[in-house]
Amino acid sequence: MSDPRIGVVGATGAVGPVVLELLAERGFGQVRAFASQRSAGSTVPFGEGELEVEEATEDALATGDLDLCFFSVGTTLSSHLVPAAVRGGAVCVDKSSAFRLADGVPLVVPEVNGDRAPEHDGIVANPNCSTIQLVCVLDPLREAAGLRSVRIATYQSASGAGAESMDRLRSLPSAEGDVVMDWEFDGDESDEESKLRAETRKILELPDLPLSATCARVPVLIGHSQAVWVETEEPLSADQAREALAGAPGVRVAELPTAREAAGEDDVLVGRIRSDTAGEGLAMWVVCDNLRKGAALNAIQIAELLLARQALAA
Ligand SMILES: NC(=O)c1ccc[n+]([C@@H]2O[C@H](COP(=O)([O-])OP(=O)(O)OC[C@H]3O[C@@H](n4cnc5c(N)ncnc54)[C@H](OP(=O)(O)O)[C@@H]3O)[C@@H](O)[C@H]2O)c1
Repeated sequence: MSDPRIGVVGATGAVGPVVLELLAERGFGQVRAFASQRSAGSTVPFGEGELEVEEATEDALATGDLDLCFFSVGTTLSSHLVPAAVRGGAVCVDKSSAFRLADGVPLVVPEVNGDRAPEHDGIVANPNCSTIQLVCVLDPLREAAGLRSVRIATYQSASGAGAESMDRLRSLPSAEGDVVMDWEFDGDESDEESKLRAETRKILELPDLPLSATCARVPVLIGHSQAVWVETEEPLSADQAREALAGAPGVRVAELPTAREAAGEDDVLVGRIRSDTAGEGLAMWVVCDNLRKGAALNAIQIAELLLARQALAA
């Protein structure tokens, strides 16, 4: 299928416009934009032109005139709209957490477990933005020396919480930003922290991997940063880790990468790779554009992989 009929649902949010930008850059021509009733009839940029936004209803998505659908809406909406689009015959790449841990739904980062994508039954799930950048770095370390445990502290940008959160940050005087934990808590952990563990285990197919996370939101517009401590099964020096990461797809080793440097880039940047002075493992700093590789780019890479393998049918 050379030019699939594509729907972008959530086209007016934080992630949807990046999906549209990347689709236009890659030469996809048959693209439609969907959002809520509030946005229906408005326009969004697409390449040199624009698209009129259509209302995303179950009926509209089930009519059978889409081959591929990218969803960047919340979990509740995805859980209704995605099955409707699948009924209409579209393969759906969903960025919400509605299906990520469901049996039979591949949860895919192409550089890590792309082989799982064609196993879909109409839905491929895109992991949480923090999980994507983490597994891009963990997988080459696992290949080099096995993984014994992972500890992580995140510094996540406002855009990870959507367009409204970006607007809120933009409206604040720059001295008034705060570090917050704006997720749901279930006992000691936020849902973001438990998602990071469960999704990482599913993608790496390491169901018992010990992983402890503390996630925080920082007053940065785009780009998630992570301090990561890894213990490996076999000894792995900082130089060996740097070498393994330098050869990994989608990863770039940098000296002191910042969120600002990562914003607008496709690669996951990793730096400060060093021995953990408090333990036996390694410490490192990982940054990534959460709207690109953390969301839109990863989803499009999944679709391109399916197209290349002619696996765009449930
Ligand atoms: N932001 C990230 O870095 C990131 C990374 C990975 C995954 N995700 C996931 O991607 C999804 C979207 O994230 P986002 O950050 O782009 O959110 P967002 O900025 O809040 O955008 C939400 C989108 O959903 C649309 N929408 C809201 N209510 C709707 C309805 N009733 N019917 C149809 N469309 C509706 C909105 O359209 P209107 O403008 O018309 O309201 C908007 O286009 C979430 O599930 C999120 O967890 C986000």
